[in-house]
Amino acid sequence: MPTLSVFGAQWGDEGKGKIIDRLSRGADLVVRYQGGANAGHTVVVGGEKYVLHLIPSGILHEGTVNVIGNGVALDPVVLLEEVDGLLERGIRCSPEQLSVSSCAHVIFQHHREIDQLSERWKGEGRIGTTGRGIGPCYADKAARTGLRVADLLDPEDLHTRLQANLAEKNALLEKVHGAEPFDIEQTFERYAALGQRLAPFVRDTGALVRSAWKAGKSVLFEGAQGAMLDLDHGTYPFVTSSNTGVGGIGPGAGFPPSRIDRAVGIAKAYCTRVGEGPFPTEDSGTEGERLRELGHEYGATTGRPRRCGWFDAVAARYALELNGATSLVVTNLDVLSSFETVRLATAYDVGGTRTETYPTALADVVRAKPVFESHTGWSEDITAVRDFGDLPKAAQAYVESLEGVLGVPISMLSVGPERDQIIERHGGLG
Ligand code: IMP
Repeated sequence: MPTLSVFGAQWGDEGKGKIIDRLSRGADLVVRYQGGANAGHTVVVGGEKYVLHLIPSGILHEGTVNVIGNGVALDPVVLLEEVDGLLERGIRCSPEQLSVSSCAHVIFQHHREIDQLSERWKGEGRIGTTGRGIGPCYADKAARTGLRVADLLDPEDLHTRLQANLAEKNALLEKVHGAEPFDIEQTFERYAALGQRLAPFVRDTGALVRSAWKAGKSVLFEGAQGAMLDLDHGTYPFVTSSNTGVGGIGPGAGFPPSRIDRAVGIAKAYCTRVGEGPFPTEDSGTEGERLRELGHEYGATTGRPRRCGWFDAVAARYALELNGATSLVVTNLDVLSSFETVRLATAYDVGGTRTETYPTALADVVRAKPVFESHTGWSEDITAVRDFGDLPKAAQAYVESLEGVLGVPISMLSVGPERDQIIERHGGLG
């Protein structure tokens, strides 16, 4: 198996968990390199549902080494709960299966609180974050005041750094937000104890991944969120605080992106978005509602109803180009069964000018009106189909149209939540 990057090609929630689980069958290592517990990767195995927030989806395959890289914003409380939850369900999750970077930045309880208070402060201008402390943790990282996993393991260091960090955060909490400050000693005790539990998992994960690659092992990089939520290239400021695609692998995993052989985008057969921000193909009417109900479009992390709409080829083309996608996996194709007409936006009308290029100015994305192509729908249940040729002709035509407007081969289609509900095309992904 080549070195593979798997990334979301929309606004997150593309069904990456299932595809990464499937692809990690052949991978020696699965590596997370950005984001944190804002992600919720759902994998269904034999009717059992697993929702993973921090641990890479490869954990469900014995023999795969799972890595949480230095670019992840790591909440030790969530991670250890996740480890315990997997162990309870009989999934092996020891330091042999899971490695955590000593350089990953730590999300503390005060980051979560500041995330939520800052959203309240912004009012109408809020981002609609997951409230998991992601933005404040990465802000500390950039401001060089953050604490890393290695700091949790060294009580003296932890105390000094925490005191410095929390003194400033307490001032913000009290003076700006009128909230209760955090007790430094209690916080220290709590996180020092978490550090002790975390210690066996902690190592230099960059060195681990590079040496595994040199030894000929196969590595899969698991992106979280999606290209349109990328801090630099997404719909800023309505984005997450990390680089969500292939470009995030160098800084977030300590692995040279030049060694990545293939980049696989994942996109739903329609679009969803959670949180605020522009979404040109959003359907706030009955079709959007139907997509939400049929696709069970409620957040895996927050339970929030997702905003739904038709496939946006302008945004997807941009996402695929940005990440140098070598192929695309389209998920939830089964959700479209029973729509008489299936729509696909191939261009935008921005203030009377037609464009097929994703606008960089947020104001242009806000006023962009989708230019839709209409395709005949199909009514057959396709969840048991495993060969492309067995799909209804209308479904085949829709997939071929997508491929045509995107200019990237569609190598897999997902037609249900289970591991085996996959149709491979063009030889799949190997
Ligand atoms: P944050 O990452 O919690 O700061 O949230 C910033 C934006 O990214 C919000 O619009 C969230 O809804 C969105 N977001 C963060 N993580 C995910 C995800 O895993 N799926 C979909 N949207 C996400």
